Amino acid sequence: MAPSMTPHTRLEKALTERQGGSLPGKIPTKWEKFADVVILPRNSFSEPEWKPDEPMWQIIAKALDVKRIARMGEVQGEHRNSGVELLLGEDDWVIRREHGIDFGYNFTQCMWSAGNVTERGRIANGNFEGENILDLYAGIGYYTLPFLSEGTRGPNGERGTGRGAAHVVACEWNPAAIQALKWSLSANGLEECCTILEGDNRNQIFKSEFDRINLGLLPTSEDGYSIALQSLKPEGGKLHVHGLAMGGKEHEWAENLAELLEEMGPFSCSVDHVERVKWYAPHQRHIVVDIHASPVSC
Ligand SMILES: C[S@@+](CC[C@H](N)C(=O)[O-])C[C@H]1O[C@@H](n2cnc3c(N)ncnc32)[C@H](O)[C@@H]1O
Repeated sequence: MAPSMTPHTRLEKALTERQGGSLPGKIPTKWEKFADVVILPRNSFSEPEWKPDEPMWQIIAKALDVKRIARMGEVQGEHRNSGVELLLGEDDWVIRREHGIDFGYNFTQCMWSAGNVTERGRIANGNFEGENILDLYAGIGYYTLPFLSEGTRGPNGERGTGRGAAHVVACEWNPAAIQALKWSLSANGLEECCTILEGDNRNQIFKSEFDRINLGLLPTSEDGYSIALQSLKPEGGKLHVHGLAMGGKEHEWAENLAELLEEMGPFSCSVDHVERVKWYAPHQRHIVVDIHASPVSC
């Protein structure tokens, strides 16, 4: 097949040949491709007329230049399982390299939000030198690893601008995510700087010893607000609170959050920054609010 064709044209041509000239349904126009995997959008090739079988997936894999094919599902349950279905290939383990970090995980079990790339980059390239950080919803280490890393290296391997924290305490209750996090900590040489607390973070007892706390759970991380406030050092620190705000009302949402956190005590809370991460649903944005918490002056 001509290499100059777009992947979509290659796919269309290969499937049209297989189907004997006419396609029984739509073929996707976009997908997520990483390593040797393509993840097709939800419902792709689900019409029964496609009669999908191994040779058809092989044709698609060849056209898209991958070895494994999966289809997007709905992120499910409190463990945030990915809902991704493997259609071609023996196993679902993958290593994604991003911002100089290797993230390993089983993609049918753990979610990966491609749209959060900018937030992972913001953290990976930030300066957290000397800090003791609590990540309340660590997952496979989406933010735990960036908090500890030195970020993206230059074209000739120059050191990135990121400065890793002294230590991160990572809370997670999904065994598949914990296994992935352990693998990635070891692969990136960071296991000495991280303590994993397995189980429900609401059942953990934290000392007031953290400089910074990450609350990266959607649709809301509000169950973690009081834990976060109790875990900050008495001299205060920073919170990164993920949430969903109506488009255009992000700052209002952030100010309301600061007010709520201040009412919950014992800190004076203000908004440092509002990061617009991605559209989560029509009109609804995933945002991260950076909160500065400082002791209340008498
Ligand atoms: C999926 S991550 C969110 C990552 C990031 N916001 C993203 O979208 O890429 C959230 C993680 O928090 C974990 N989690 C949720 N509630 C928890 C709790 N109470 N205690 C410990 N872990 C929890 C879930 O298992 C999940 O792995």
